[in-house]
Amino acid sequence: MTDLVKKLYKDKTLSKDEFIELINSNADTREELRALAEKIRIENYGNDIFIRGLIEFTNYCKQNCLYCGIRKDNKNCRRYRLSLDEIMSCCAEGYKLGFRTFVLQGGEDPYFTDERICEIIEAVKGKYPDCALTLSIGEKPRKSYQRYFDRGADRYLLRHETADKNHYEKLHPKSQKFENRIRCLYDLKEIGFQVGCGFMVGSPYQTVQNLADDLMFIKELNPQMVGIGPFIHHKDTEFKNASDGTLEQTLLMLSIIRIMIPKVLLPATTALATIHPRGRELGIQAGANVVMPNLSPVKVRGDYQLYDNKVCTGEESAQCKSCLEKRIESVGCKIAVSRGDSKNQ
Ligand code: 5AD
Ligand code: FES
Repeated sequence: MTDLVKKLYKDKTLSKDEFIELINSNADTREELRALAEKIRIENYGNDIFIRGLIEFTNYCKQNCLYCGIRKDNKNCRRYRLSLDEIMSCCAEGYKLGFRTFVLQGGEDPYFTDERICEIIEAVKGKYPDCALTLSIGEKPRKSYQRYFDRGADRYLLRHETADKNHYEKLHPKSQKFENRIRCLYDLKEIGFQVGCGFMVGSPYQTVQNLADDLMFIKELNPQMVGIGPFIHHKDTEFKNASDGTLEQTLLMLSIIRIMIPKVLLPATTALATIHPRGRELGIQAGANVVMPNLSPVKVRGDYQLYDNKVCTGEESAQCKSCLEKRIESVGCKIAVSRGDSKNQ
C-alpha cells in the first residue's frame, strides 16, 4: 500500500496537504483506496445494503441555490405538493416493499409550517413505529429542529454543500449564509438527530483544496451519514453550461470517506446512477452501503428535477426496488430489511 493510504487507514485523517495529494493520486492509488474502502465496508456492515424510501413531498422552494433545478426563480419548474394522505400512501407502499426508513425530502416550502411537519411526523411514526423517519427539508431555526425531534423524527439530512465560505458564496445568492448552514448541522447534532452532511463533487468553481476542506470538515463534524454525488448541470440554471462532476472523482471521495469514518452510512446516490449506467454498483464497490430509491408517486417524479436527465423517474416503486435488488446482487450484496441505524455513534 502507498504510504499515504496506509497513513489514512491508520490515523483516519490526514493534513490538508496530504488530502490534496491523495485527491490528485494516480489510478493505482485510487484502486488501492477503492479496495480498502470496500474491505472496510464489509468489515463493518457485511454485505448488507440499506434501503431508504425517498418521498419528495414538495418541490416548492424559497431558496435560490444557483445549481438547483427547483430553485425559486426557475419559472419552468412545475410545482407540486403531496397531501398527508398521499405521503401516507407512499409509506404504505414502501412498507409493503420492505422499507423501514422513510426520508421526507422537500424544498424549503413555507406552506409546510412546523405544525404541518409535526403532523406528518406524528402520522408516519404513529403508523410505523418500527421505522426510522429522516427529514431533509433544509435550514430551520434550532427550535424547529427541536420540535421535529421531540415529535419523533430520527434523522436529518442537510448537505453542507462546501466547507469553504468563498466557494459557498459562489454557489448561492447573498441571502444564503454559509455560517447558518454550518450552525444548522451542529444544532441538529446537539439535539440528538443522526445527522447527514455532504457535498457535490465537481460543483462549479470547486478546487482540490475545497475537496480537502470538505473532508476535514466531515472529519470534524463526525456525522452518521455523508451524502455525496456528482454535480450535474440543469438546463434552467446559471450553471447550465458548467461541466458535470466525474464518476472517478466521486468514487474516490466515497472511498476516502469510508476509510476516514469506517462506520459511516454512505449512499450511492441517484446522481451517481445518472452519470453512469452502473453508477450505484460502482459506488457500492467503492465503499457505499445505502441506496435511496424513490417512493414518490410517478405523476410527480419528473417534477423533482434538481439536475437534468435524472434516472428512475418513470418507474413505479416496486419496479425500482426489484431493479435495484438485481443491481445490488450483481456486486455480491443484498438488501437489508431493517432500520439500518448508523454504527457511528
Ligand atoms: N447536481 C447534483 N446535485 C444537486 N443537488 C442540488 N442540485 C444539484 C445538481 N444540479 C444536491 C444538493 C442538495 C441535494 C438535495 O441535491 O447537494 O443538497
Ligand atoms: Fe430505479 Fe432501476 S433503480 S429503475
